[in-house]
Amino acid sequence: MCGIVGYYGSENAAPILLNGLEKLEYRGYDSAGIAVVDGGKLQLVRKKGSVSELFSARGIQGHLGIGHTRWATHGAPSEINAHPHVYGKFAVVHNGIIENEYSLKEECRARGDVFSSETDSEVIAHLLDFYYEGNLVTAVKDTVERLKGSYALAVVCEECDCIVCVRKASPLVVGIGKNGVYAASDVSAIAAEGVTVYSLDDGELAVLSTEITFFNQNLVRIEKEKIEYDAEEEIPDLKGYRHFMRKEMAEIPQVLGKSIYDYTEETYREFYRILTQTEQIQIVACGTAYHSGLCAKYAIESLCRIPVEVCIASEYRYLDPIVRSGTLALAVSQSGETADTLAAAQLAKNKGAYLAAVTNVPYSSLTRIADAVLPTNAGREVAVAATKSFHAQLVLLYSLASALAKAKGREECLPHIYDLLDQVKCAEETCEEVRSWVPHFLGARSVFFLGRGADYASSLEGSLKLKEITYLPSEGYPAGELKHGTLALVDCSTPVVAVLTQKAFAEKTMNAVHEVYARGAKVFLITCFEEYCNRKEVTSSVLIPVCKEEFTPVLSVLPLQALAYYVSIARGNNPDKPRNLAKSVTVE
Ligand code: M6R
Repeated sequence: MCGIVGYYGSENAAPILLNGLEKLEYRGYDSAGIAVVDGGKLQLVRKKGSVSELFSARGIQGHLGIGHTRWATHGAPSEINAHPHVYGKFAVVHNGIIENEYSLKEECRARGDVFSSETDSEVIAHLLDFYYEGNLVTAVKDTVERLKGSYALAVVCEECDCIVCVRKASPLVVGIGKNGVYAASDVSAIAAEGVTVYSLDDGELAVLSTEITFFNQNLVRIEKEKIEYDAEEEIPDLKGYRHFMRKEMAEIPQVLGKSIYDYTEETYREFYRILTQTEQIQIVACGTAYHSGLCAKYAIESLCRIPVEVCIASEYRYLDPIVRSGTLALAVSQSGETADTLAAAQLAKNKGAYLAAVTNVPYSSLTRIADAVLPTNAGREVAVAATKSFHAQLVLLYSLASALAKAKGREECLPHIYDLLDQVKCAEETCEEVRSWVPHFLGARSVFFLGRGADYASSLEGSLKLKEITYLPSEGYPAGELKHGTLALVDCSTPVVAVLTQKAFAEKTMNAVHEVYARGAKVFLITCFEEYCNRKEVTSSVLIPVCKEEFTPVLSVLPLQALAYYVSIARGNNPDKPRNLAKSVTVE
């Protein structure tokens, strides 16, 4: 969701800002812009489209500036709506949403201000102009006190030799390197050897000039501790692959080993005690992370007989959920910055749950509010479509299920999770096999993914991946539910992907396969049971290894991800940057 960079130092700011913005493009790529201050003058360049459109700005002179890559919320992607927003002597870049923009704009208009964009962000520049009395830091403080909603801001002023940064519910980091100081919404924009990075907490301000000075919301100076990050991991590298999505899928076999945990009393004392005493688990998450939570529900309930509620975070946060005592809340989020997941997690904690963060980013906002952090260790994921992070979440959650099942004297499952490390390598081969299915999907008006139990959860993820990067309408459906209405949509132009890995439901899922076949649909099967591959109803199938039934999504989702990827490129899309989407959804 939008990216921010800022630079103050001995070098020319423009090329540094543009390089940083290129690294942040996965957060939004509707439009981009930079503002550089030189000799008391603001120089502004903004363009619709990707950061590469800003190439003419490279030559701009000036040692301090701010930049932004946008994912449109308020107002269409256009040059006029692109950041930085300038009013008077001020330029501002903003991530987040200003919820009281209308009343603030009315107030500014009553003073005679005219707005040039449709964005909520522009009002911030107008408020700065109003509150400024020669001190940019106090003007920023006074301005943010008027804002409702979420924001990460970097502000410059023609008269001031500094950048002021502040945040609330939207990530922002600052860093010190040898040639200057930096600000960014994401470490990856400024990660380089030797840059020491600090993360701002809600309400904190940082003033960037020859050094960085930190203040709390009352403008009292504070000290901050640097955060640890792996510079190498933060620098995206395609390593010969055409797209990050395919590269990240290929990494799944090696990623899994890093996400398997042996939770024991000795190694994870406090968390192990909470885990094994828990009477109810609530999982809050969005998108793909929600689907990994659903897969985990089937495994935990089956192996441990503990109720697991999986909640879409954007719903949970507003529904006054019931949190019983002894509830373990698992907030699952690749980025650890998803606004809805953060709000849901905080709510669960406020209501008395023990909050564990299952996340891929160890210094993310989610880790700061959690009682325990369970890192998924998938490594940086660049493609907007989540792939390896899903698999890492799965095996981490299965590890929890395994520890719990063992503590309850039910079953020892950890060896089965380790077996997945070899099994997933065989499943990887099916990624190429599904390429032959692609022509059947190119002209489809809609696609169905069917399954029961854990296969239903896998179907949902297969469908989300397909929608996200191919733009084909599709639905993941419980196989038995189709006949209650949705079957009306199926005809000979509807490819149906059936996932069949649960022995007890196999014939039941095949009933649904018969039903769609009878309506002329072509059926593509992902199964671990060879006997179903050659059924006349099945147009083509891929055979994945047999593993412990509860853990099959680790193997069945791989070919589903590959199907979406290959259909996406066959349709001429860029799977790494699907339209309208951004990697990290830091706004509501
Ligand atoms: O960073 P998070 O895991 O919290 O993100 C949640 C969703 O926004 C994310 O999984 C989204 O659905 C993916 N783009 C799906 O591929």
